[in-house]
Amino acid sequence: MTLILGIESSCDETAAAVVQDGTDVISNIVASQDELHQEYGGVVPEIASRAHLERILPVIQQAILKANINLHEIDCIAVGNRPGLIGSLLVGVAAAKALAWSLGKPLVAVDHVLSHLWAPILSGNTPEYPALGVVVSGGHTSLLLLENPSTARCIGKTIDDAAGEAFDKAASILEMGWPGGRLIDEAAQHGTATHRLPRPRLKNNDADFSFSGLKTALLYGVRGNPKRENGKTVFPRVASSLSKQEKNDWSASFQEAVVDTILRGVKEAITSHKINCIIAGGGVLANSRLRQHLLSLADQEQLQLHIPELSYCVDNAAMVAGLGWHLFSNSQFANLELTASPRGIAS
Ligand code: KG4
Ligand code: ZN
Repeated sequence: MTLILGIESSCDETAAAVVQDGTDVISNIVASQDELHQEYGGVVPEIASRAHLERILPVIQQAILKANINLHEIDCIAVGNRPGLIGSLLVGVAAAKALAWSLGKPLVAVDHVLSHLWAPILSGNTPEYPALGVVVSGGHTSLLLLENPSTARCIGKTIDDAAGEAFDKAASILEMGWPGGRLIDEAAQHGTATHRLPRPRLKNNDADFSFSGLKTALLYGVRGNPKRENGKTVFPRVASSLSKQEKNDWSASFQEAVVDTILRGVKEAITSHKINCIIAGGGVLANSRLRQHLLSLADQEQLQLHIPELSYCVDNAAMVAGLGWHLFSNSQFANLELTASPRGIAS
């Protein structure tokens, strides 16, 4: 029996978890910072790293307490050290190194994007490799070819906004709140995709994604074409003039365009690479329409789809501890010179 303590602080969730043998989640604590960033309509890196600093030790303590174990019973400490906001990552890395040193326990360093692809394994899935990894989150939209859970090659990624970021900006254009993905998803369930929005396609590298044009198309669709007046950009309409039904229809139209764009990328990757299954993860996998469409695509292609349950879609430390167990089992240890990096396997 191997107990791994996972630590996650790459963006705006401070998280710690204890996982046994890579799959049994004994405790899983996530302290969200949504309320701190809400008024800015996005994550403010300086606020995020300060909040991590205040929360990291209580969150770790709670994970240990909830697991009903003693810190010394932990076999290894796994920390997400890349990619992410550098100030945020450093808080988790410093805490993990201090614990590893003081307890005399080994340390493993986990790529956050790859850890999202361990989330389905926590939900009882057992993928067969090689696999196509699909990570769709607030910071990433990436397609990866996985030889095994920790060896992968990125074959496509967004060249501008991530899909989750695009959802968040769409909700802000529609004046619905932040973070917006869940709000757009809910509104879309009461709407119809009546507006034709672009499905951006890149000419030079088909496997990459782009979402910033789609976001601008939504802005102009909702508020009309802007004019320059006295050096300022002025839109003919405001989003608050839209009825609830109109917002629902715009949400459905936007969501359909994002889902179509992701699905097209996944389809092309399935055609060009030999894979045994699809593994998907990341906050946007909580989206009901994306889940539905991925399931029917996998069905059509007669491929198994491994997808996390909703609670493991967004950032958490259980997935870090899970992939950490795989690294531990393969003796892929880090040393106390470990540092954080804003770049990872998919960036
Ligand atoms: O994986 P995650 O917690 O953070 C990153 O690693 O980036 O993903 C957060 C993102 C946010 O952009 C949020 O709006 C989006 O996931 N999200 C959703 C839904 N729930 C969360 N997007 C679309 N539909 C949802 N139901
Ligand atoms: Zn994430």
